[in-house]
Amino acid sequence: MKEKIDELLSEVAAFKAENNEQLEDFRIKLLGSKGKIKALFVDFKNVPNEQKKEVGQLINTLKVKAQDKLDEFKSKLAGGDHTSANDMDLTRTATPVKLGSRHPISIVRNEIIDIFARIGFTVSEGPEVEDDWHNFSALNFPPEHPARDMQDTFFVESEEGDMALRTHTSSVQVRIMENTAPPIRTLSPGRVYRNEAISARAHCFFHQVEGLYIAENVSFADLKQTLMYFAKEMFGEKTKIRLRPSYFPFTEPSAEMDVSCSVCSGKGCNVCKYTRYLEIMGCGMVDPNVLENCGIDSKKYTGFAFGMGVERIAMLKYKVNDLRLYSEGDVRFLEQFKAAF
Ligand code: PHE
Repeated sequence: MKEKIDELLSEVAAFKAENNEQLEDFRIKLLGSKGKIKALFVDFKNVPNEQKKEVGQLINTLKVKAQDKLDEFKSKLAGGDHTSANDMDLTRTATPVKLGSRHPISIVRNEIIDIFARIGFTVSEGPEVEDDWHNFSALNFPPEHPARDMQDTFFVESEEGDMALRTHTSSVQVRIMENTAPPIRTLSPGRVYRNEAISARAHCFFHQVEGLYIAENVSFADLKQTLMYFAKEMFGEKTKIRLRPSYFPFTEPSAEMDVSCSVCSGKGCNVCKYTRYLEIMGCGMVDPNVLENCGIDSKKYTGFAFGMGVERIAMLKYKVNDLRLYSEGDVRFLEQFKAAF
């Protein structure tokens, strides 16, 4: 009897099921109502009394081991354990990894930086929360200028006195002029804030890329040539530019730059409102007062500056008709720019 039990114990220990039929076979043969273990219990009656305790324990151990084996393979075959090579299907397609894409504002900002980098412009960054000096005073804004009004600018209280969310990245140019000896040729990209009601055409924040070039003998002709190069690189070789006189406190003379409408190629359409041109940036020669405010000798050096809104350029490039789309994070909008970088 003991030999029979030992035999069955090693049979159980060695057993492996490769499929459910084999497992069911095992169950019926050992644990079934007509199985081998049941038969042992029947034979148990004939075991001499003095051996009953020992043999009884052995049969119970066998029963537990057989049941454990059955449970182990049940869960393995049900997919609970993928450790064996047989369980893996290496030919199955992998779970697709969803690739993200760059934001259209980043795409266009990088493109602008790229175009100017080719003619030697570096990139400078600065804080978004600025003091009055860097955002206004150094740039020649008089104390009563409307941009200093609460209606136009977000002011922030701080221990160092009143601060403002920068209204343009010209503040970064002040920081660069204060700390760098000319020649200076740099771009300042970044987010800026204005106190505007949010609509399809205006937002309380947007992105700019401003540029600054300061050296000896820089003239308005250099400014025009540089902007013409930019317009052709950005909107195509046939693009024309137009400079209209304008006013900024920090440049003199100042101008607005228009590019010929890339949608109708200057014939007149809805996008340019039949004016054939689209306004894309402000520019001008840096006012000598600004140079002096920043510690640069205005008798020796001259320079030009320009500034554009990235959203506006992206709107023209991708025909986006609502500014709010840029900051809503709607995947249906954002995934359209997948191929663009
Ligand atoms: N700082 C101006 C603005 O935010 C743009 C600008 C920059 C105009 C440099 C002229 C020269 O509107």
